[in-house]
Amino acid sequence: MGLGNAGLPLAAVIANHGIQVVGVDIDRRRCDLINSGKNPIPHESGLDELISRHGGKELVATTEYRDASSCSVFIVIVPLFIDENHNPDFRTLESSFRSLGGVLKRGDLVVLETTVPPGTTEGIALKWLEESSGLRLGQFYLAHSPERIMTGCSISRLREFPKVIGGVDERSGIVAYDVYRRFIPNLRLVSSARVAEMIKVMEGCYRDVNIALANELFRISEELGIDFYEAREHANHEYCHIHMPSTGVGGHCIPVYPWFLINEMVRRERAENAVMLRTARELNDRMIHYWMDRIIDACMHIDKPLAEIRICIHGITYRQGAKELHHSRNLALAKLLKSRGLKVGAHDEMLSREEISKAGLEWMDPKDADLVFNSFELSVKLRRHREAPG
Ligand SMILES: NC(=O)c1ccc[n+]([C@@H]2O[C@H](COP(=O)([O-])OP(=O)(O)OC[C@H]3O[C@@H](n4cnc5c(N)ncnc54)[C@H](O)[C@@H]3O)[C@@H](O)[C@H]2O)c1
Repeated sequence: MGLGNAGLPLAAVIANHGIQVVGVDIDRRRCDLINSGKNPIPHESGLDELISRHGGKELVATTEYRDASSCSVFIVIVPLFIDENHNPDFRTLESSFRSLGGVLKRGDLVVLETTVPPGTTEGIALKWLEESSGLRLGQFYLAHSPERIMTGCSISRLREFPKVIGGVDERSGIVAYDVYRRFIPNLRLVSSARVAEMIKVMEGCYRDVNIALANELFRISEELGIDFYEAREHANHEYCHIHMPSTGVGGHCIPVYPWFLINEMVRRERAENAVMLRTARELNDRMIHYWMDRIIDACMHIDKPLAEIRICIHGITYRQGAKELHHSRNLALAKLLKSRGLKVGAHDEMLSREEISKAGLEWMDPKDADLVFNSFELSVKLRRHREAPG
């Protein structure tokens, strides 16, 4: 259920193990492409080959849940968005689970792969399934196995990276482990769905906090006139891994998951348990203000009124090499500068002119800009400038 960036590589890998897969997705165009052997995610390494081999054969895509009624294993990997208060919006997940409940039979296994707040699988997901299927846990099995892929290298991740799985009860865990072992070589059974959920959320928190630390150390180094990158290179060893600084943290995952825990602690009136997670989140989100100030400072060396300086943001996707704008801090930085009345355009190797304009920015050739900010290298380059005074 869900043939997106995460679901499609998984479906293709399962089909490549000789298992018949029905992929359900509400996007008809995507289903048609897959069934004609065409890969809708061309930047995903190795996926072209798998879709051309299995699309429309071992992997059949459909918009109808009832077409999956002969299946005995159901994997749900539809998106979970968060609202403006950083609370999960479960509507897509609920809709998928309730549709799935309509085709669920005795003895079937359901595995949720979408990253969710700990307790979701054994709580609301189980409730949706029981209500919509008329069955009780024990008549079917339910587990959680978080998707740990990275866009661009999902296939190799599925083949090599350790994957965890945990059931809402002991039997579900064992049944799910036995099924997943057939197509996931590096699989670990954990004691519960709740632990499996926490593993993925923890990873996101670790990354967010460590990126925040790197951003803070970077800012302090700049203030002190110290080369952060040189210091980092020699500081890192077996017990110290300082991450790279950035314009913040984007994408569907890392900026979202810490809020699962922060908000849960607030609900329980235990906000003091999540102080570092909240601080890291806020620090990373505010990095675009730091970079805005740096860019405006650099503009002072250009012999033009500020409002006429052409600024090019080179790289607006949330991460280099990922064609994804969701929660992109690079895009947010460009829009922040624009909101201050500056002439801002964007250039990105992953995006066409139309895609950049759809994102709300003017396409700009870096050669035509007065100042180019490379979001991934964090470099500010002046193309036309006067000598800095002093
Ligand atoms: N993309 C990643 O790198 C990544 C990594 C780790 C985990 N995840 C997890 O995977 C989840 C999905 O991410 P994604 O990147 O695949 O999202 P996506 O937006 O690329 O794809 C989601 C797909 O689900 C389909 N869909 C929406 N509602 C549906 C429904 N009711 N029934 C069936 N299909 C439906 C959409 O049409 C779309 O094709 C995320 O929420 C996250 O928890 C993603």
